[in-house]
Amino acid sequence: MEETLRELEQRALQELKECRNPTQLEAWRLRFLGKKGELTAVLRGMARIPENERPRIGQLANEVRDALEAARTSRQQALRREERDRRLAAETLDVTVPGWRIPVGAVHPLTRIIREIEEIFLGMGFEVREGPEVELDYYNFEALNIPKDHPARDMQDTFYITEEILMRTHTSPMQARTLEMTYPSVPVKIIVPGRVYRRDEDDATHSHSFVQVEGLMVDRGVRMSDLKGVLTVFAKGMFGEDRQIRLRPSYFPFTEPSAEVDVSCPLCDGAGCRLCKGTGWIEILGAGMVHPYVLEKAGYDADEVSGFAFGLGVERTAMLKYGIDDIRHFYMNDLHFLRQFRRAL
Ligand code: PHE
Repeated sequence: MEETLRELEQRALQELKECRNPTQLEAWRLRFLGKKGELTAVLRGMARIPENERPRIGQLANEVRDALEAARTSRQQALRREERDRRLAAETLDVTVPGWRIPVGAVHPLTRIIREIEEIFLGMGFEVREGPEVELDYYNFEALNIPKDHPARDMQDTFYITEEILMRTHTSPMQARTLEMTYPSVPVKIIVPGRVYRRDEDDATHSHSFVQVEGLMVDRGVRMSDLKGVLTVFAKGMFGEDRQIRLRPSYFPFTEPSAEVDVSCPLCDGAGCRLCKGTGWIEILGAGMVHPYVLEKAGYDADEVSGFAFGLGVERTAMLKYGIDDIRHFYMNDLHFLRQFRRAL
């Protein structure tokens, strides 16, 4: 019996050395240490040996089992180490291989221009507000001195939703909304960026939807020269220190006097070119002194306070600044166009 155990141990250890992978190792374990394994088979023979020998043989059998278990564990660890070393040797890392390129989006040029405009006016103490695109006829027209039969309604062909509800045709309704809300306090100094809608045929310079930035400043003693000063700071901040502005008389029902504002052509510096059609000037916004009617509709006393307002076309500004020749580029989602703005955040 003792012999058999010793022989079994030797043979098992010998065969263990030949196990090359986890599958073989498991087969070895079942064969020698398993319930139906050789060691168990030998131990079954215990019944046949003399009683006084049993403790010694039993102990020996335990020792053999422990030795085989220990040998198996260390063989298993050795195999794992080998396997890891093999993998490390095979998996070389080439640090010169180019990395994956992660596609990064770009801020849309209109968003970029709006942010720049906001930055300039924040610097002059204006607040940024937003208003509804679906608007009441009252704020879009009535409160701005454009009654139902007023010919100025033809200036802006309107998308109506019901008789009294429409898509705003300009951001000027926020003049009326803001004054109504802030009455009776002054000063009011806001800009309002936002999308507007008009029933226009789309072409290179017209779109049924575009973006404006409204400006409104109301206080005691605001004068036309304040408007000119603020717009000069804006034009220089947006198009460069060399730019000039000029005001031409115009007409809007909600401002009196009204003006159209030109900036000296950034392309030819006022000399006259294709972009400015030889005039040296490019129109960028409508403006004027807030009409007393608008102030009084909101409750203000037009003898006490005065103000100016302006409406700036954002696409126009972007086209001028970036030399874009077709307004439709802003809505086509052509990646070749949009990617040009990728660097900026
Ligand atoms: N709302 C006018 C337009 O869209 C522009 C404007 C705004 C004119 C404010 C004067 C004052 O044409």
